Amino acid sequence: MIVLVGPMGVGKSTVGRVLAERLGTSFRDTDTDIVETAGKPISEIFIDEGEPHFRELERQAVRAAVAEHRGVLALGGGAILDDSTRALLADLPVAFLEMGVAEAVKRTGLDAPRPLLAVNPRQRWRELMEQRRPLYTEVARAVVSTEGRTPEDVADAVLDAL
Ligand code: S3P
Repeated sequence: MIVLVGPMGVGKSTVGRVLAERLGTSFRDTDTDIVETAGKPISEIFIDEGEPHFRELERQAVRAAVAEHRGVLALGGGAILDDSTRALLADLPVAFLEMGVAEAVKRTGLDAPRPLLAVNPRQRWRELMEQRRPLYTEVARAVVSTEGRTPEDVADAVLDAL
């Protein structure tokens, strides 16, 4: 199993699919699992039930995926906020995909329907990264920059680094 962590828009799903294809295995994404279980988009879970409820669903989704999945797994950008999730990741090959705010803006326009970036997206992105960078680094066996790289190049770098 390979686990990908990192901020929203860094390309975990795209790189994860490339990696899974290279390794002849399957790709799984905890955001997708949560949407399926809840029967509604993440933005609606945030609005209807609030972020703490979403984080609990996420904690359970990560647990189930780590127990069941043998391929490549991408986690939502905030999954590493949970202490027990970080403990769970400690023995797994985890790659932290990173990029700077300029690249984040270029790639996503920061206008995707992501509830945490709804207001002042650039400022929020910086704040989130300040809080989360140490947590991504704590769980990661490899830190891979995605700046100026294609998903294929990033996938190669992940395989080299792990
Ligand atoms: C979040 C990231 C999103 C999604 C939710 C919250 C976060 O996942 O789980 O909007 O807290 O960073 P992606 O990183 O896959 O966009």
